[in-house]
Amino acid sequence: MKLSPELEVAFNNQVTLEFEASMVYRQLAIELDSRDLPGMGAWLRHQADEEIVHANKFIDHLIDRDNHAQIGKINSPQLDVSTPLDAFKAAYAHEQRVSEAIRSLYRTTEEAGDLDSRPLLNWFLNEQIEEEATVSEIVAQLELVGEDGPGLLRVDAELASRPTGTTEA
Ligand code: FEO
Repeated sequence: MKLSPELEVAFNNQVTLEFEASMVYRQLAIELDSRDLPGMGAWLRHQADEEIVHANKFIDHLIDRDNHAQIGKINSPQLDVSTPLDAFKAAYAHEQRVSEAIRSLYRTTEEAGDLDSRPLLNWFLNEQIEEEATVSEIVAQLELVGEDGPGLLRVDAELASRPTGTTEA
C-alpha cells in the first residue's frame, strides 16, 4: 500500500538523515586518519558505508510502495574534534539523534495505522540499539586509556580488525 504524502515526507527525511550520518562518519574518519590512527579511520569509514546501506533500505521501501524517494539537502558535518574521544563522542551523539528520529518515525506511522512499515522500522529500532551500544563501548574504552599513547594504539589496532557490530543488509 502506498504511503500517505505525509509519511512519504517523513521517510524521505529519514533517507536524508542517513546520508547525513554517512557524511558525519566520513568526516570523523578524516579527522582520525589525519592523526595517524588508521584503525579508527577504517572503522569509521566502514560505518559511513553502513549508513548508505541504511539510506538504501528506506529508499527501497519508498520505491516498493510506489512512492517517490527524494534525497534532501545534506548538511555539511560541523564537528569539533581534537581527540579520538571527541570523535567517538560525536559519533555517539549522532547515533542518539538517529535513534530518536527512528522512534519518531515509528510513532508517526503507528498514529497513521501504517502496518506495512512495521517490519522495516522494527529492524531499525534493533539496529540503533546495537549501534549505540557499539559506539558507547568504544567511548568507554577511550575514556579508560585517556591520553596514554600505547593504550590509544591498542584501541586503534583492535578497531582495525573489528567488525562494526552492525548488521549488513
Ligand atoms: Fe543509520 Fe548509524 O544509524
